[in-house]
Amino acid sequence: MKKLDWIEKINFLRKEKNAVILAHYYQESDIQDVADFVGDSLALAQWAAKTSADIIVLCGVHFMGETAKILCPQKRVFIPDVNAGCSLADSCPADKLEAFVNAHPGYTVVSYVNTTAAVKALTDIVVTSTNAKQVVDSLSKDEKIIFGPDKNLGDYINKLTGRNMLLWDGACHVHEQFSLEKILQLKKQYPDALLLAHPECRKYLLEIADHVGSTSSILKFAGKSDAKRFIVATESGILHQMQKENPDKEFIPAPPEDSTCACNDCIYMKMNTLEKLYNCLKNETPEIFVDEDIRIKAVKPIERMLCISEKYGL
Ligand code: 13P
Ligand code: SF4
Repeated sequence: MKKLDWIEKINFLRKEKNAVILAHYYQESDIQDVADFVGDSLALAQWAAKTSADIIVLCGVHFMGETAKILCPQKRVFIPDVNAGCSLADSCPADKLEAFVNAHPGYTVVSYVNTTAAVKALTDIVVTSTNAKQVVDSLSKDEKIIFGPDKNLGDYINKLTGRNMLLWDGACHVHEQFSLEKILQLKKQYPDALLLAHPECRKYLLEIADHVGSTSSILKFAGKSDAKRFIVATESGILHQMQKENPDKEFIPAPPEDSTCACNDCIYMKMNTLEKLYNCLKNETPEIFVDEDIRIKAVKPIERMLCISEKYGL
């Protein structure tokens, strides 16, 4: 079937079933273009929480679908490919986190949204890369904090807030593979280019970046900046919106250490395709389910985060 046929069928089913299609910026371009809404992890959670649709199809990875289900237990939530996981979420199994938390009594647990529902159920407050600073700042100065699972984001937030949070040793396989040497070469070749980096990147990249922020933050920065050329250190899917919103600007994907791989692509995010999205709407599978005991515990730290985000207009 041709691309236009998939799109036509998706449009028909979306209307017939009162479904909303939410897509993350790392999704392939066709999915971003067909979605009702494209956003970062925070915006996807906010959208899910307020939609009046009966069905949410979350084109992203599993934890994003779970977050939507945790917030909207009465709605049916689907993701196009049930195997779309996250290496960062995998780096923090709930039983290991529980043992770590038990070994550190009196600590507040702050978890990145890139975690399973079971990890969120052990968490006091959730953050995304858009609101991590504001959330951590909202905690009292003498509070002892465990932050997980992303050590690069945690270290960056420690620096921004002057905290000394205990960091879980996790990382994302996409954001850890950018080559400092090749980026410095690019900067020499294009001295006018600004380096934009997601806070999941390694410390040495964040230190030389012109702007560090979530996907929505780097997109906004690129739009507002007078610069005409940018080196983008995050997953390649974001380049689609960047180019779409700024046709007069040039976006260069930051090169990986290994130039033979497609390492700038998140293998999990790219498991979703238009065809799988269509099948998911048509067959109403794969569906996301969250155990109700876990959901009741996990919803509290997510809602706490959403309240703080609202207060700061994020
Ligand atoms: P954002 O919340 O910045 O979109 O990041 C999500 C993510 O998975 C980064 O790898
Ligand atoms: Fe997870 Fe990294 Fe993929 Fe984001 S880019 S979903 S952190 S594996």
